[in-house]
Amino acid sequence: MPARSPNVPSSPFAVPLPDEPATLLGNLTPAQFMRRYWQKKPLLIRQAIPGIQAPLSRDELFELADSEDAESRLITHFRKSWAMEHGPFAPDELPSVKKRDWTLLVQGVNLHDDRARALLDRFRFIPDARLDDLMISYATDGGGVGAHFDSYDVFLLQVHGKRRWRFGAQRDLSLKEGLPLKVLQHFEADEEWVLEPGDMLYLPPHIAHDGVAEGECMTASIGFRAPSASELSGQFLYHLAERLDDARSAGAKGGVQRYGDPAQPAVSHPALLPPLLIERVGAILANIEWNERDVASFLGTYLSEPKPNVIFDPPRRPLNENRFIDCAKQSGLKLDKKTVLLYDKHAYFMNGEQDLMSGKVKKWLPELADKRYLEGKRFVTLSGDSSMTVLLHEWYCAGWIQVDANA
Ligand code: SIN
Ligand code: CO
Repeated sequence: MPARSPNVPSSPFAVPLPDEPATLLGNLTPAQFMRRYWQKKPLLIRQAIPGIQAPLSRDELFELADSEDAESRLITHFRKSWAMEHGPFAPDELPSVKKRDWTLLVQGVNLHDDRARALLDRFRFIPDARLDDLMISYATDGGGVGAHFDSYDVFLLQVHGKRRWRFGAQRDLSLKEGLPLKVLQHFEADEEWVLEPGDMLYLPPHIAHDGVAEGECMTASIGFRAPSASELSGQFLYHLAERLDDARSAGAKGGVQRYGDPAQPAVSHPALLPPLLIERVGAILANIEWNERDVASFLGTYLSEPKPNVIFDPPRRPLNENRFIDCAKQSGLKLDKKTVLLYDKHAYFMNGEQDLMSGKVKKWLPELADKRYLEGKRFVTLSGDSSMTVLLHEWYCAGWIQVDANA
């Protein structure tokens, strides 16, 4: 890959404003797109990004697929038989680019590449809490992942070559059995389009679709997470349990509350689940309480939690606090491409950690979170706030934010 300086903030990408027509959305405003299409129906947008360049070249994508840090899959359909392997893939483990019917998919490219992150940022008219990742697929002629459906919203942006998309809102979403990937048993398309570089197809969840490369092609998928109700409930209860344990061990004399059974009589059926146990545990569970703050704190920490394979890159020779602030004043600072920063009125959530939104923090944090960037001049207006500089310097040392060290 070409040498890139991870420390140079780029100016923030202009996020389309809700009521301004956007080329990206075929001249719809984001507000119109959300009302008419989001989670509702597919939309084909010709030349959403005219003159687009693939954020990564084929070789750069292959290099990323060779790394432990990236999640990649190789899907082949040789002699009409589906096969799937998980990466990393050394260059000689991929089929020849001259061979047809295979595709390589690399997940979370935005975590590794600033250009991919910038592309993802164009979709920030949708809340960050829903934004998942940018995947890039490379395919040779005939390559694809088969007819399938996804449970999330996706923008399929053609970044190189051509791909024929067929899609439809069929009810029968049953899958073929015994395959290493999800392929629909029956697929009937209502619509069919060939996408060229810059064209984009938006698909809401559960629309059956099949994209087949026409010659060598690359497609970027901007995906939006939609955790299932059971995942959310399970994770929320886990979050709540941790909080209850913390509060109890900090406050109660006896520490964490436990089941006790001083009234348990001797038994002649030892395998029988004791009715007393069921009653007592029922009473413990009935005592669990939560409010909207608990839900917000769960969502903020859960949705900003880095994915398991995310490792931040702290600066090798960090600037001291004064020098760091000088550089920030000169050229501003930006969130690292891997950082997730969410907030609400009461708290902010950064990479899985939360803190209160104090009056001082409120002056600059929402701006940093929304723009993913803080202009140099903001440090002049906010100068004198030592708590801010200490905090920002800590984040910088952790690799969560970046300044231009040469400023
Ligand atoms: C692809 O890029 O080949 C697959 C994307 C998808 O259909 O979800
Ligand atoms: Co799909």
